[in-house]
Amino acid sequence: MTPPIRTVGVLSAGGDAPGINAAICGLGRRLLERGVTVLGFTHGWRGLILDQARPLTVLAMHDLLVAGGSVLGCSSHDPYLRGDRHDVERIRATFAARKLDALVAIGGDGTFASAVRLWREEGLPIVGVPKTIDNDLSGTDYTFGFVTAVERACQAMDQLRTTADSHDRVLVVECMGRHAGWITAFAGVAAGAESVLVPERPVELQHLFASLEALRRAGRKSAIVAAAEGIRLFEGGKPLSPEAKDEYGRYRTGGVAELVAKRIQAVLGWEARAQVLGYMQRAGSALAIDRIFALRLGAKAARLVLERRFGRMSALRGGEVTDVAFEEAVAKTKNMSDVFLDRYSDFFLPLDHP
Ligand code: F6P
Repeated sequence: MTPPIRTVGVLSAGGDAPGINAAICGLGRRLLERGVTVLGFTHGWRGLILDQARPLTVLAMHDLLVAGGSVLGCSSHDPYLRGDRHDVERIRATFAARKLDALVAIGGDGTFASAVRLWREEGLPIVGVPKTIDNDLSGTDYTFGFVTAVERACQAMDQLRTTADSHDRVLVVECMGRHAGWITAFAGVAAGAESVLVPERPVELQHLFASLEALRRAGRKSAIVAAAEGIRLFEGGKPLSPEAKDEYGRYRTGGVAELVAKRIQAVLGWEARAQVLGYMQRAGSALAIDRIFALRLGAKAARLVLERRFGRMSALRGGEVTDVAFEEAVAKTKNMSDVFLDRYSDFFLPLDHP
C-alpha cells in the first residue's frame, strides 16, 4: 500500500500574477480538509534552497481568494543557473528535512524548466500550477492572471485615448510580453488601437509610419499604438532594438515605446509620447474570472498530489480543467499562431500603404 500524503510544500516562482493566492487557496483547502500539512515556501525556489517556510492554516486560506500578489512572495531565482549542484542539493536536503511528500510549484516557463529537471533527474515529486500574465505557457489554453492583465491594459488604453484626443498626439502604449504578444494584441484590439505591434512579427517602422500617415491624411488627429515590450524593431530593414541580453540569455526589454514614439515624432512630425504600463498590468487583485480559474487549477493540483501523479501541471483545455506533463508545458513558448495573426492582421499590424 502506498503511504498517505502527509506534508506538501507550495511555492510561487517567477513574477507575481493576479490569482496566485487564489490558486494557493484552491490547493490548500483541498489538502487541509484531508489532514495534510501545507508548508508555504517563500520567494520561489529560493525558499526551498534556504529552507524558509511556514505552515498555511485553514484560517489563512480564507482571505487568500481575494488578495493580489503572492502571500508567499515570488522570485525568478533559477536553481540551475549556477551550473553546479549546490542549489539542487539544498533543495534535496529541504525535501528530506521537512519530510515533503510533494511540492506544488506555481509558475511559468522558467519555473517549469527547473521543475521538469528536479522531477526527471532528481526524482523529486513535483506538481505544477500554470501562472503568467503573458499567457505564453504551452499545454494550457490560458494561464491565470492573463485576463486581468488584458483588462488593465485595455482600460489604460481607453483612458489614454482621451488624452491622446485632447492633445492631438500619438500615444505609444507599452505592454508586457517579452516573447508573446497576447496581452498587447487582446488589449490593443479591444481598445481599438490604431496599430498593434507584437513580438511574433518583426516590426518595420516604415510600415507603421505609412499607416499613421494614411490615418492623418484621412483626418485623424490622434492615435494609439499598442506595442509589446519584446518587439524587434527595424527601420528601412536596419535593426533598431538593443541586442543586450540579461543573465538568463533573454533580450533585455523595456523602452520600445519611447523609441517608437521618438521615431514617429522625428519622421512624421506628429507629436508622440510613450506610456509604459509596467506593473500596473499585474499588480492588485484578480478579476473574478481569474480568481475562479486559479482556484480550480489549485484544486486540481491538490488532486494530482493526492493521486501521486507527479511531473504534471494542471491546465485548462477547451474549458475543462485537466492536466499535462511538464515536458509539454516547457516544449515551446506559446505564441500567437501565424493563422491567427494572418486572420486578424488588419487589426494587429500596421496596414501596408502604397
Ligand atoms: O513574465 C511576466 C512578466 O510580467 C513579463 O511580462 C515581464 O517581461 C516580466 O515578467 C518582468 O519581470 P520583472 O518583474 O522581473 O521585471
